Amino acid sequence: MTTTSDQSQSSGVAAVIVLAAGGGTRMRSKRSKLLHEVAGRPMLSWAVNAARGLDPQHLVVVVGHLRDQVEAQLAEDAPDVVTAVQAEQKGTGHAVACALEGLGDLTGEVVVTYADVPMLNTQTLQDLVQAHRSAHTLATVLTAEVPDPTGYGRVLRNGEEVVGIVEHKDADDAQRRIREINSGIYVFDAAALRRGVAALSNDNAQGEYYLTDVVSMAASGQIHGDDPARHGVGAHRTDDLWQTEGVNDRVQLSRVNAEMNRRILEKWMRAGVTIADPTSTWIQPDVDLGQDVTILAGSSLNGATSIGSGAVIGPETTLTDCEVGQDVVVRRTEATLAVLGDGVRVGPWANLRPGTVLDQDTRIGAFVETKNAHLGAGTSVPRLVYAGDVVIGTDVTVGAGAVFANNDGRTTSTTSVGDGAFVGSNVVVVAPVTIAPGAFLAAGSAITEDVPADSLAIARQRGHISTGWAARHREQMAPPADSDPRSDTRNHISTPEDHS
Ligand code: UD1
Ligand code: CA
Repeated sequence: MTTTSDQSQSSGVAAVIVLAAGGGTRMRSKRSKLLHEVAGRPMLSWAVNAARGLDPQHLVVVVGHLRDQVEAQLAEDAPDVVTAVQAEQKGTGHAVACALEGLGDLTGEVVVTYADVPMLNTQTLQDLVQAHRSAHTLATVLTAEVPDPTGYGRVLRNGEEVVGIVEHKDADDAQRRIREINSGIYVFDAAALRRGVAALSNDNAQGEYYLTDVVSMAASGQIHGDDPARHGVGAHRTDDLWQTEGVNDRVQLSRVNAEMNRRILEKWMRAGVTIADPTSTWIQPDVDLGQDVTILAGSSLNGATSIGSGAVIGPETTLTDCEVGQDVVVRRTEATLAVLGDGVRVGPWANLRPGTVLDQDTRIGAFVETKNAHLGAGTSVPRLVYAGDVVIGTDVTVGAGAVFANNDGRTTSTTSVGDGAFVGSNVVVVAPVTIAPGAFLAAGSAITEDVPADSLAIARQRGHISTGWAARHREQMAPPADSDPRSDTRNHISTPEDHS
């Protein structure tokens, strides 16, 4: 039938309901459990993204515990999602009932997932929906066979057919020996689900309205859908146990993080990236790496970072939202929102802050901090510099200890330095000034005015040498007042009275 195959290949489900109202007390956190991150993204976002991949007509997140935090996160990265409030957590069945209330008379398929199962992906949900469609059942449960099923609901079967789910706390010894567990993720026929949750009771070990009882009702024929051809309950078993793994505490959170990272690193290694030490390397899912990139120990690549082919990153380097060109070398460096052209060399021990743009073949050495700084091709800043709010041309050399002072305590201003200029050691350039191309700023100068092209700017006290002074000083212990070596360079202090 064409309608069936159309539906199975392309059309989305009627709704996905993501349960996110529960407590998460075992995290021992002031933050909602669902905002804790896996691979740099809140668990909630992973769950919502997986659900969105099914292209549902309605995507509903059931909120309750710490709902302000959960809703704020949703408003930020999933504003299309509808929330349903479950004021009191009376169980998974009750949570689904709260979601259905806002959806009216739904027909089709309703998928139920959890917000605390971050590794579940769209592909698995699609496979589950596919299994449901081909079996014509009222419900299909995602199951897994696990080594230790303690705590989980157990899948009761009669051959291929699922006859029910029993919660660990309600199970007898024989049932507790079953190792096939309910992941808590299902597809339901919408009409059967609506009838099922309306018929739930909380007469069980936990005094909760169990969604699992809807499964048992569908299996026993106690509830039915609108389509008489659909009946019974099926199961779709996954071999990837991580996809059903819920996170309840920070031990599980770190395990899931490690596994997610392991998978990402493996993907990159298979794509031609060398990762020297996978145990200390962290790469987030949106990072993009070119061929023959090498990542050395202790490095983290975060956000939307991209790295061109042949680059060597690390050791001990953290790049967040950076765009890095080909054959770049970045050692022991922290960089955020920086753009590094081909052949750039950075580090060791540099701090590239947002707005740093390094054109091709520039060089940044040890203990250099940049912020909102554009350096032209071939420019070199070998060591010990602060460059904030500065536009530097091509082939400029900036000596050790130079500071581009960008803030006078009230406003931040920009300095520009022309092509081929030379900034001597320990120069302070007080913004805003313009240094024209080819200018030479003498070491130790404080530059407060514009410098024309190809000029020498020298702004420091002339040195004074007192012949034999040191020898006399050693003999007499106390030097005569008129030969105080500091007399040339006394500070000038402007008191408030000077200006009144
Ligand atoms: C549930 C299943 C169990 C399954 C297990 C898989 C039931 C009765 N049991 O058990 O068969 O093996 O998940 O992890 O469904 N939630 C709400 N509102 C509530 C209660 C829960 O939104 O009132 C949410 C929680 O935030 C969580 C999810 O539902 O994301 C599961 O709740 P939880 O209490 O962990 O269910 P389990 O008892 O583990
Ligand atoms: Ca749980």
